[in-house]
This record gives sequence, C-alpha cells and structure tokens, in this order.
Amino acid sequence: MTTKLTRKFDILEPGSLLTDFSPLFENLGPDVYHPAQTGGRSRRLAQHYATFDPKTGKISVTRLVTQPFLQGDYNKLTGHLERPIEPTLPDTDLSRFIEYGFKSIQERWPLDGRENEWLVNCHLIRTHAKGKQEGVPVPEGIHRDGVDYLIMGSVRRQDVSGGVSYIYDHVDGDPFFETTLTPGQAILIDDESLFHMASPVTATKDEGHRDMILMGFHFWSRNHYRFDWKDHIYAGSREEALVSE
Ligand SMILES: [Fe+2]
Repeated sequence: MTTKLTRKFDILEPGSLLTDFSPLFENLGPDVYHPAQTGGRSRRLAQHYATFDPKTGKISVTRLVTQPFLQGDYNKLTGHLERPIEPTLPDTDLSRFIEYGFKSIQERWPLDGRENEWLVNCHLIRTHAKGKQEGVPVPEGIHRDGVDYLIMGSVRRQDVSGGVSYIYDHVDGDPFFETTLTPGQAILIDDESLFHMASPVTATKDEGHRDMILMGFHFWSRNHYRFDWKDHIYAGSREEALVSE
C-alpha cells in the first residue's frame, strides 16, 4: 500500500525526460515585461486542455492557442497586465512531461473525486546573467503562482551560480526548505498551500543562463483560460495528442 504524502511539496527526479527539452530553450522569445538592469529573461508558453481520470489513469492532452497571460493578484508586479508571451514552436510536444506531472500528483495527493478537466500551462523560461548583471528568475519575490499544482523543473544550468529555490509557509516568513535543483530535478508543490521564490543567478563566465520549465496545473472550472477550449485548439494539434493508461 502506498503511503500518501502529507507534506505539500516533493522533489521529483524526471531526469532526461526534463533535460531532453534543452534544445527548446535555444529559440525563445523576449520577456519584455522583465525589469531592466538585470540580465533579462527569455520565454515561451504552451497551453493545454488535459483530462486525467484517476480511476483508470487515462490522460489526454490537447494543445491550445496560447492566450495573453494574466495572473491577477498573485503577481504584484505584472499580474494585472495581459502579457502576450510567444507560443512554443509548432513541433513542441510537452505531453510526456504533462503525463508525468499528473502521475506525480496522483501518487502523492490522490485526485480521486476531483474534476477530471484541467488547464496545463507550460512556461519555458531562460534567466540570463551577463557580466556583473545578475539574472533575476523571480522579480515578483515570494509568491504563489495562482495554480492548483505547480512543477518547477530544472532543464539546464550553464555557467551560473545561485538560483536557489526556496519554499515558505507564509509570504512574509523565512523559507523552511531550500535546494539548488540540478538539471533533471524538479519541485512539485501544492500551490494553494505554500509559497516559493528563487534567488538571482550570477554568471561564472562572461555570461550564463538558468533554464526552467514551470508547469502549472489548473482545474479547468477555475476558468483561467477564459475561452471554450474546443474553439481554440492549436492548428496542427490532434485532438488527443497523447492518450495513455
Ligand atoms: Fe512561481
């Protein structure tokens, strides 16, 4: 019998499932809302309608048209801006990592009895550090993402130090957990319960970068996508790009 996790976060080891996404980070778009006087960030966003049936383990993933990103009160810097973010390129398929995410959540905090429909947002973010300019992964400070579950996965660290991940019980407290994720590791967090942050990165050569995939799982009924998913299926995406049991 599996012992269910009582704490609200865990460290995952997806390994190459995560690091194999590294080439996607060589062609990201600008993050025009990132504060000046930092090394800057680059990013893309893929959004998905997904279903997960805890009874059968069946998962479906359908890529949607990327909409402007709106976080609301959860991001005190830019949460109320509708931020257009470049979509991931057409051949990007993150469904295997989404599937891994659902299974990881189910193993720790069973979703039985919860709704089966989800919005899954996958942010690919590169934080740059150049010379003495630090890279700032989290300009908004200690925060929640405003999702139900969040996976923060390290894809690559190239010539950087820092970028320590912190987890907090309270927005104004001290972290009760910290770790520097190595590429292939991820943090799974119950975003409703805990807060998180990451420290700046410093280049150890002329420039460096820290590549992360941030995957937010929203119950679909929370209406974060704001449109009927059937009207916004990404062109070229099959309705069930991935179905597994
Ligand atoms: Fe976050």
